Amino acid sequence: MRKPVLAGNWKMYKTPAQTRAFFEAFLPLVRAVEHCEIVICPPFPDLAAAVEAVRNTRVQIGAQNLYWVKEGAFTGEVSGPMIRSAGATQVIIGHSERRHYFGETDEMVLKKTVAALEAGLMPIVCVGERLEQREAAQTEAVLSSQCRQGILGLDSVRFSKIVIAYEPVWAIGTGKTATPEVAAEAHAVIRCEVHRRFGSAAAENLRILYGGSVEPDNAQALLAQTEIDGVLVGGASLEAASFAKIINHQA
Ligand code: PGA
Repeated sequence: MRKPVLAGNWKMYKTPAQTRAFFEAFLPLVRAVEHCEIVICPPFPDLAAAVEAVRNTRVQIGAQNLYWVKEGAFTGEVSGPMIRSAGATQVIIGHSERRHYFGETDEMVLKKTVAALEAGLMPIVCVGERLEQREAAQTEAVLSSQCRQGILGLDSVRFSKIVIAYEPVWAIGTGKTATPEVAAEAHAVIRCEVHRRFGSAAAENLRILYGGSVEPDNAQALLAQTEIDGVLVGGASLEAASFAKIINHQA
């Protein structure tokens, strides 16, 4: 049994004061939740407020990016040990917005994943195809290549500690969710690659989240797929009630 992960990616939204207000509203709504892990990933300046707010709760805090060097002359970057020492326990890596706007490659994603694991952070590594790639029937090839050039370069021990998020780029922030069947098919492609590289136990234990316009209205159908082990939620995680609704769908 794979324990679902329900993660919120706040992107570049909210100040520390707004973070505190979110958790004041959110925590009472998810207090009884035991069926899944809950992770919220705010921007760096909100990490301290978020970690403080969730103390003594089951909610975990993650960052949205990291750099692979521990410290040094890298203006504007933040390292794994810095994130860990701020109290965060997870980190999103290789989000399509980072790949698209900031030029992140599969090779960088692999380096960041190793650095996150070395710092004691659980990486949530994102993969996903663009619209034109799906329309050209390249989805499977793109996902396989992103996995092979990136996270399948880990050793099996490290690999067992990561979570993958399948986020079709055409579904992110567009209101166009992949149907549960389309998402599950893509998850199966990823799981198959993992099986080929690391064997059946690793493939069976790997948690693959779906991300892209997940809302309270469609979360239940997505999470009902056995291939879908959780969700990575952008827009709908910004509001306490809507994210709590997604989390409580099966409670
Ligand atoms: P969205 O974003 O839920 O707003 O589509 C998901 C993500 O980018 O992780």
